[in-house]
Amino acid sequence: MSKNPDEDTTAVLLHERRIFPPDPTIRATTRIKDWDAELRAGDDIETYWAEKARAFTWFHRWTTVLDTSDAPFYRWFVDGTTNLTYNAVDRHLTTRPDHVALRYTNEQGAERAVTYAELAHEVNRTANALIALGIRKGDRVAMYLPPCIEAVACMLACAKIGAVHGLVYAGFSTRALAERIRDADAKLLITADGTFRRGKTIDLLGVATEAVRECPSVETTVVIAHVQDPEEGHTNQNVVSYHDLIAQADARCEPEMMDAEDVLFILYTSGSTGKPKGVVHTTGGYMVATATTLQDVFDINDHDVWWCTADLGWITGHSYSVYAPLLLGTTSIIYEGAPDYPQPDALWRVVERDKVTKFYTAPTTIRHLMRFGETWPQRCDLSSLKILGTVGEPINPEAWIWYYEHIGRLHCPIMDTWWQTETGCFMISPLPISPLKPGSATKPLPGIVAEVMDVEGRHVPPGRGGLLVIKRPWPSMLRTLYNNPERYKKTYWEQIPGGVYVSGDIARMDEDGYFWIQGRADDVLKIAGHRIGTSEIESAFVSHHAVSEAAVIGKPDPIKGEIVKAFVILRGGYEGTPELTEALKKHVRHELGPIAVIGDIVYTATLPKTRSGKIMRRVLKARELGIDVGDVSTLIET
Ligand code: PRX
Repeated sequence: MSKNPDEDTTAVLLHERRIFPPDPTIRATTRIKDWDAELRAGDDIETYWAEKARAFTWFHRWTTVLDTSDAPFYRWFVDGTTNLTYNAVDRHLTTRPDHVALRYTNEQGAERAVTYAELAHEVNRTANALIALGIRKGDRVAMYLPPCIEAVACMLACAKIGAVHGLVYAGFSTRALAERIRDADAKLLITADGTFRRGKTIDLLGVATEAVRECPSVETTVVIAHVQDPEEGHTNQNVVSYHDLIAQADARCEPEMMDAEDVLFILYTSGSTGKPKGVVHTTGGYMVATATTLQDVFDINDHDVWWCTADLGWITGHSYSVYAPLLLGTTSIIYEGAPDYPQPDALWRVVERDKVTKFYTAPTTIRHLMRFGETWPQRCDLSSLKILGTVGEPINPEAWIWYYEHIGRLHCPIMDTWWQTETGCFMISPLPISPLKPGSATKPLPGIVAEVMDVEGRHVPPGRGGLLVIKRPWPSMLRTLYNNPERYKKTYWEQIPGGVYVSGDIARMDEDGYFWIQGRADDVLKIAGHRIGTSEIESAFVSHHAVSEAAVIGKPDPIKGEIVKAFVILRGGYEGTPELTEALKKHVRHELGPIAVIGDIVYTATLPKTRSGKIMRRVLKARELGIDVGDVSTLIET
């Protein structure tokens, strides 16, 4: 690693000055200049969000901003009708038809840019193709796709005609894909022939074809020729070619009148129990809150080139690669590939080439790239960057400082945004003019009311840990869990008294009112920023013939945040050999997909359990970390 010319500054940053005041140039140029005043503007949440909603086109204006009569089934912008795609694409055709909407790039260096006018054509043709396949308002369309312009067009086409999209991250396995398609009862699956990753092409159609065999609801599978030339065609007789479909389709399509509360999409996420939860987001509130928060937190303006590195299959991709940037009429980069392939400067080369101004990624990516040293970013021209951001897990101060120094060159503020699949939009985050403390997401955004509470629903004073709750509804909140309103109520609203939303995270507030997120309170792990339930992994383990019982915990890891450690009881006749360990790791990966990377497996004869037979993972974890196990009066080893 090269010697760093700013070493003295860094040492000071790391050890003494923990508050980073806003950069003077940022203060001079951003739209919002006074953090406190902006926070106060959000005190009356209904007035605040109604004011924000006026920035969009509504076919019919709402009559009531927030309806709480059927809490926790809140409704926003009641009686309002709009169309999200109309607002994200069509609305810009009079003002900026030739502005680049999406710039796709991949690890092989291929590029494709589409303007708002071109995107409108592609979306409309896709929408008409969906209609021709019999898709109507309210029908569910599953997607298993790489990040690409066609994937965005398919999402927007659904929103245009009122179909409900359900993306499944292309790293999930056949089983996970099939489970999600079945739960959503999807009529159509859109997939691709493959995706690029580290110089290889990964077959998606094969996984999709296998999954569809177990999904009777799917009437048609559409395939996008992504890694192959569309002209070469494909050999699978049971699928329809996306390019053929849209070639014949009309490029005009009227937007469907969507009620503000009509469902926009379902996105599955892991919870404490085995079955993934289908998080339901609706139209009007999601539109208003995602666009508002992106605009304020990253100070988006007409000249920005915005890059959120998340895959489209996660909420971050939905909200901040697709909907919010397009609603704001900006340019959004869609990237397909690994961050260190072909070289560890892959991301910085794109920043340099496309003059990215605002860059948003996960702490795990930063920690991974730190390993290769700062000479990689130093060789690139990163001077276009103005604001940086992170999401997905707490960022450790070392990674924060590295990002600040080597990517932001000591003058780009870092927006540490805390939010969830369920919240739809950023909830706790600084604004560019906020004084920053590395590792803290700072304060709830205007219009968001958060607090730390104990299990009795009492306020926890500053300095002490407790449950992070949201006290008032917000427009882009999940509305329910698909087909499971009871689980929605139980998981989020009935954990503690007081009718507050329980996020599942543990947090602490400091004396300045800054929030410090400490991780999950439930049995959900965060592996490289991806959310995965312990019980999902455990059931994958026990589906192997050698395994009788399994318990998994997250173990801190310097790069991935957490890695999975598994404690396994074998069936009689099996031995915990290195071969079996490898076979189990492979098996779990096959069951759940590549995100389920297992770190260690230990074989054991017993597991700590409660008298009712529930595995006490916290005991395993405490033992692993060598910390006090706490109250174990109900513990038995069996
Ligand atoms: O534990 C929190 C963590 O990620 C969880 C939500 O995961 P998911 O629904 O997959 O959405 C991730 C992208 C929005 C939260 O409950 N988390 C997210 N952002 C942060 C965070 N933890 C600390 N700091 C953050 N900025």
